[in-house]
Amino acid sequence: EELGVTAVGFSGGQPKAGVDVGPAALIESGLLTEIRDELGYKIVGDTAVNLYKDLVPTEDPDYRGMKNPLTVSAVNRRLADQVYKHASEGRLALTLGGDHSIAIGTVSGTARAIRERLNREIAVIWVDAHADINTPEGSDSGNIHGMPLAFVTGLAKDEREEYFGWLRDDMRLNLRKLVYIGLRDVDAHEKQILRDNGIKAFSMFDVDRHGIGRVMEMALAHIGADTPIHLSFDVDALDPMWAPSTGTPVRGGLTLREGDYICEAVHLTGQLVAIDLVEVNPSLAATEAGANETVRAGCSLVRCALGDTLL
Ligand code: ARG
Ligand code: MN
Ligand code: MN
Ligand code: MN
Repeated sequence: EELGVTAVGFSGGQPKAGVDVGPAALIESGLLTEIRDELGYKIVGDTAVNLYKDLVPTEDPDYRGMKNPLTVSAVNRRLADQVYKHASEGRLALTLGGDHSIAIGTVSGTARAIRERLNREIAVIWVDAHADINTPEGSDSGNIHGMPLAFVTGLAKDEREEYFGWLRDDMRLNLRKLVYIGLRDVDAHEKQILRDNGIKAFSMFDVDRHGIGRVMEMALAHIGADTPIHLSFDVDALDPMWAPSTGTPVRGGLTLREGDYICEAVHLTGQLVAIDLVEVNPSLAATEAGANETVRAGCSLVRCALGDTLL
């Protein structure tokens, strides 16, 4: 099988430096060579980390409260094309972030490709401590990594091409095809959005109550069998014990084994069309061991999604 890799060294969706070296750290630790040599995938695409420097404007003032809006929009517009190309040529698209704002490009690129190629709507399984569905006006931080799902679902829109106006209807995600797992730090405005739209969400409370096995059964049942799945995994879904080196850690998260299980269960559906692994920031851990642990956890999640650990 072919794997279409995009390494996105991008940090403009949030204020902390270092998440832009996440993909390089994952690749240097051997992730892609393992995938090729041990899992037998053919790796296609530019595996050099793309910093998108050519897209950064000289001035990028706040707009509707968003920080770095022109930059985040332009990078995601390019990324949407890259992921679209992989998915429309039948490759499983693996995107290594970077902050989670890059899901604007990955999800919209996948959604468009699957609509064209299979005439189907994708589902997104969003594994995260956070809901990342703030509208620009609802966001307290202005950081666009807290907004990707608002833009890809059309809850947030803008007329202006250069401020995400390039997101067309055929690139959008249906809100009924979104499922969250791992939530535990959701803003008040976001809770309102989840309620108003009846969005399916399994918080840490649900993981504790039912166990991860049952949660995955319910999540996949909601999506429906034979629906193409885009898995967007924010490493901060894991407890900081396993992934301390990330920009917005929240205690009380998934164990590494629960994270791996989610990825394995998605692999077993045979419906996986795209994977994002985001928010690995090797510069934030208190110790070098903490950074290494986070990178190792990220590699484990990706390998599980590709079927590595199943017998
Ligand atoms: N909800 C907060 C915000 O809007 C935190 C978002 C964190 N997102 C992430 N991808 N780590 O700023
Ligand atoms: Mn998060
Ligand atoms: Mn608020
Ligand atoms: Mn996130």
